[in-house]
Amino acid sequence: MPHVTREAGPVVIDIENITKEYVMGEEIVRALRGVTLQIRRNEYLAVMGPSGSGKSTLMNMLGCLDTPSSGRYEFNGRNVKEMDDDELAAIRNREIGFVFQTFNLLPRANALRNVELPLIYAGVDPETRQQRAERALIDVGLGDRIHHKPNELSGGQRQRVAIARALVNDPSIILADEPTGNLDSKTGDEIMALLEDLYQRGNTIILVTHERDIAVHARRTIHLRDGLIEMDHTGIVPELDAAIAT
Ligand SMILES: Nc1ncnc2c1ncn2[C@@H]1O[C@H](COP(=O)(O)OP(=O)(O)O)[C@@H](O)[C@H]1O
Ligand SMILES: [Mg+2]
Repeated sequence: MPHVTREAGPVVIDIENITKEYVMGEEIVRALRGVTLQIRRNEYLAVMGPSGSGKSTLMNMLGCLDTPSSGRYEFNGRNVKEMDDDELAAIRNREIGFVFQTFNLLPRANALRNVELPLIYAGVDPETRQQRAERALIDVGLGDRIHHKPNELSGGQRQRVAIARALVNDPSIILADEPTGNLDSKTGDEIMALLEDLYQRGNTIILVTHERDIAVHARRTIHLRDGLIEMDHTGIVPELDAAIAT
């Protein structure tokens, strides 16, 4: 069944000519060399490109986890450079949910506790915290696994715990960096179905991947190469297969 493409809302992420340089002793690594990009609310965007092209660096910028060397970044019409630590923390905790390839769960905490974590940082009281974490776990299909620790869960279940944790603060944007990179293809499909569902419920999805099979789930694809956007394409067009093969 073809998926419905939703109408995108106002621009939420607006970056212009962003660069990022890492100084490594004598050498300077130019990870981003002038990226300009606008992302609207309720877009589903895939960021593609070969290893080392700057995908994770761009994602860290978008998520306000790192600051650019130069260029402008406006989030929701506000210049990120002018935000203080509290405002940045509020964006990271409430506006954006992060999903990483390696899940990044606390090994000794059960699923419920892992999902509660962002709410602890946000100062939510224990009872509300537990209710919301439980709800988020039920939403990702793990209602019967809330007391399991990461090593008592499969890879797909661990990633679903990580997604529940990303969702528990009800963020509008999901930033997922290679979310299926450590999963077999069937489990990866389940995670992609979950992201599609979030998109259909009104979330903005930014998906970083080097795999075309994963990127086809998005409604728009950008390609990075050597720290620059070499293509920005709306829609899913199979004939581009050959052109974008990395
Ligand atoms: N913390 C860092 N210090 C130095 N160089 C880095 C750092 N992070 C990334 N790089 C370099 O920047 C480039 C882009 O990396 P990255 O954004 O991780 O690419 P991708 O996610 O597309 O594989 C690479 O050349 C990488 O080696
Ligand atoms: Mg990466």
